[in-house]
Amino acid sequence: MHNYKNAIAELLKKHIDAMTYEEILELVEHPKNTSMGDFAFPCFKLSKAFRKAPNMIAESLKEEIVIPEFIDQIEAVSGFLNFKVNSTHFAKVVIEEVMSKKDKYGSSDVGEGKKTIIEYSSVNIAKPFHMGHIRSTMIGESLHRIYKFLGYETVAINHLGDYGTQFGKLIVAYKLWGDKEVIEKDPIPELLKIYVKFHQEAENNPSLEDEARSWFTKLENNDPEAVELWTLFKEMSLKVFNRVYEKLGVTFDSYAGESFYSDKMPMILKELRDKNIVVKSEGAEIVDLEKYGIPPALITKKDGSSLYLTRDLAAAKYRKDFYDFDKNIYVVGSAQKLHFQQWIKIIELMGYEWHKDCIHVDFGMVALEAGSLSTRKGNVVFLEDVLDKAVEQTLEIINEKNPDLTNKEEVAKDIGIGAVVFQELYTTRNKDYTFSLEKTLSFEGETGPYVQYTHARACSVLRKVSFDPQSNIDYSLLTDEVSKDVVRLLAKFNEIVVLAHKNYEPHTVARYAVELAQNFNHFYHDNAILVDDEALKNARLALVYSTKVVLENALKLVCLKAPEQM
Ligand code: ARG
Repeated sequence: MHNYKNAIAELLKKHIDAMTYEEILELVEHPKNTSMGDFAFPCFKLSKAFRKAPNMIAESLKEEIVIPEFIDQIEAVSGFLNFKVNSTHFAKVVIEEVMSKKDKYGSSDVGEGKKTIIEYSSVNIAKPFHMGHIRSTMIGESLHRIYKFLGYETVAINHLGDYGTQFGKLIVAYKLWGDKEVIEKDPIPELLKIYVKFHQEAENNPSLEDEARSWFTKLENNDPEAVELWTLFKEMSLKVFNRVYEKLGVTFDSYAGESFYSDKMPMILKELRDKNIVVKSEGAEIVDLEKYGIPPALITKKDGSSLYLTRDLAAAKYRKDFYDFDKNIYVVGSAQKLHFQQWIKIIELMGYEWHKDCIHVDFGMVALEAGSLSTRKGNVVFLEDVLDKAVEQTLEIINEKNPDLTNKEEVAKDIGIGAVVFQELYTTRNKDYTFSLEKTLSFEGETGPYVQYTHARACSVLRKVSFDPQSNIDYSLLTDEVSKDVVRLLAKFNEIVVLAHKNYEPHTVARYAVELAQNFNHFYHDNAILVDDEALKNARLALVYSTKVVLENALKLVCLKAPEQM
């Protein structure tokens, strides 16, 4: 597209020797207050080179610059140079680009040639896929989509929690109280039941813990019975998990979980020992990180068995060797902040520069209105139940409001599940929040259904008349304030996506979608679209069409479908 930002930077460059084009480009911004203009260039950094106060610099630049066709006005205000873009030119450039790129609009090639690994969800085998898991799962999937959209090669990994001493416990519990038939019918709650029972019984009978440890050792040594039971737990769990992923539209390239690294453990341990990074401490091995203000990291236990952290070291090393990533992202809750600090530091101590490319994208807790979520106590809320309930309630709403809608069930899924997902991604990542199904399903306010509804509204207009994006459009008819607001937002989409990926914040896109929907609804409210004046009708339809395209693209990036009718 005719990129205004670039064009303005080029224009400025002709008058500024003290900065490179790139440096200038970096500084060109959107004024917070749109009445100040569409773009602004702060002159503060030039003070030294120009030996002048910023407002003086702005004034003299204003005098020197010959205003090009795409700009209406340049003004110097308090050290800023403000640019007002010609509205007709702007509308034409933006809308033509949306109409030609369609589902690619907003994408770019900033990631070309770079490989990003995104690890997310990483649920634990034989444990509930609970409401708390929605965070990692959806933030991760959204980042996955955003990175792809920006041209990165991506690898989506589900680092399954399928290893560790808890599997020794589960084997013991299964052998004592497990009933295969009962468990197969409803695996997770039944496995959870016996797992909880193990903890209760072990309080009075500590020998159970010893037994569990020895079964885990057997598993590590490939004992056939241990492996068979472990495989059974894993297969049964994955069947259930995949059902949830399908409902959410979440996909992975790899399910290499913790167990995948069990045979890579000796190598990493040898390296740590050879490089003198580990020290013995009471029979175990640790890495002393005191110098860095970080508590020591446990690498092997007294009984020699490996640990979660050690598996993460092996996993990171493997990923670097196998994928040769440029960036290795982990979407994991803030409760594990220390864990990530520790092992990433250890990677650095091992002499690997790429420790810098390992990034912990953390997030706060999600609580349900009824209370917080916990696995051990058994009062856990399954994510799938929340999704099903959302779909069920949405269907009720549809039956009430639009009973003749075709595809009701499908649409109810798109809206109900989308609502839950949207609510999740609308929240700032590192904030704790309380989930409310009622608020989530509302068609008003800052919700998924609201955005989807706005999209469907645009679709419905476009169904009523034929609109040809190739036709001649008089863009000067889109220069009223509400139309201009919509155009300005459409233009911003790519920047929003780039920002979201830079900060690992899908909520940037979610918020943008709401803002675009709100502004479109103002436009829709203020401007009759299906008017007699053909030229006016056509211009407004072009805006409706473009908004529909961009809303759909934005929804897709935050993992929502965009039904045409609802
Ligand atoms: N399965 C872990 C849990 O539920 C999360 C795994 C996070 N990823 C990692 N590479 N450590 O706590």
